[in-house]
Amino acid sequence: MIRVENLSKFYGITVGVRNLNFSVERGEVLGFLGPNGAGKTTTMKILTCYLPPTAGTARICGYDILENPMEVRKRIGYLPEKNPLYMDMRVTEYLEFVSHLKGVPTRRIDEEIGRTIGRCGLEEVPHRTIGKLSKGYQQRIGIAQALIGDPELLILDEPTLGLDPKQIIEIRQLIKNLGTERTVILSSHILPEVSQVCTRIIIINQGELVAVDTPENLRKRLKKASVIHVKLRESTEAHRAGDIVSAVEGIMMVKEAPSEEGTMHIIIEAAPDRDVRNKVAFAIVESGLPLLEIYSEELSLEDIFLQLVMEEEAH
Ligand SMILES: Nc1ncnc2c1ncn2[C@@H]1O[C@H](COP(=O)(O)OP(=O)(O)OP(=O)(O)O)[C@@H](O)[C@H]1O
Ligand SMILES: [Mg+2]
Repeated sequence: MIRVENLSKFYGITVGVRNLNFSVERGEVLGFLGPNGAGKTTTMKILTCYLPPTAGTARICGYDILENPMEVRKRIGYLPEKNPLYMDMRVTEYLEFVSHLKGVPTRRIDEEIGRTIGRCGLEEVPHRTIGKLSKGYQQRIGIAQALIGDPELLILDEPTLGLDPKQIIEIRQLIKNLGTERTVILSSHILPEVSQVCTRIIIINQGELVAVDTPENLRKRLKKASVIHVKLRESTEAHRAGDIVSAVEGIMMVKEAPSEEGTMHIIIEAAPDRDVRNKVAFAIVESGLPLLEIYSEELSLEDIFLQLVMEEEAH
């Protein structure tokens, strides 16, 4: 669906993006993740033919962005970072205007607007003035204009930026639903967001690609060791727990952590990809120690991101 090759964009001497390579298959929801200035918007503007690359190219549905920009544009619905709304227009009026711009045949416009309004949950506000609606509704209208003309690919630049938590949940759900029927690329600097919504994540930093993978694989790949926490009820025997756990096969390190009064908390590191929880629990219970809790530590996407970016910078 999308093939990006050696794509670079320089603004004078400032790097927008440098030597990006990636591809996106039909039906994927791809998350573009990176801090401010990473190059997310730059990449999206190039893919939507709003900005020419300095070097390299991209093909979308088989069309080259430089050779066939009109064919590319026909296949993309784009929600820019700045929502392109006319605040004094009514919702249907604006969508009609967009339909004309995109060349939707006049006889099909009403049907197209009806479909899009239903898809984006705008049924209650079709005749309201856009400027008087909430930011959440305005964002839905921004997504609706991208959907007009039924494009195969949706490109959404920070679609949840500036929304309140309830609106964020609603917009994420809308994007997830859209992702079941077409290919979506969205950008975000909110890590849990892309892991919830996307099937694959591209991480970029300072214009360069740092990683491309599924959220699960990114987590796995970076898991240097699996970390398990064990909590026991404090007793005269509890101090034996460290030795008992150390004897379990696959354990690399055991240390005691500060704990609440009356409990004992130990942290265990085991070899990666090795689930020793069962063996640890069994060893403790068998030795008669009062086990309260056992759980493994999940690496958050924040941790992954920092780790990847730091590895990259260390090179
Ligand atoms: N029109 C421009 N002129 C000069 N430099 C630019 C221009 N647009 C972007 N840049 C620079 O290119 C780099 C990438 O910017 P870009 O807007 O693509 O990042 P981003 O990942 O979208 O960031 P944000 O999360 O802040 O939206 C930044 O260093 C930025 O300052
Ligand atoms: Mg941006």
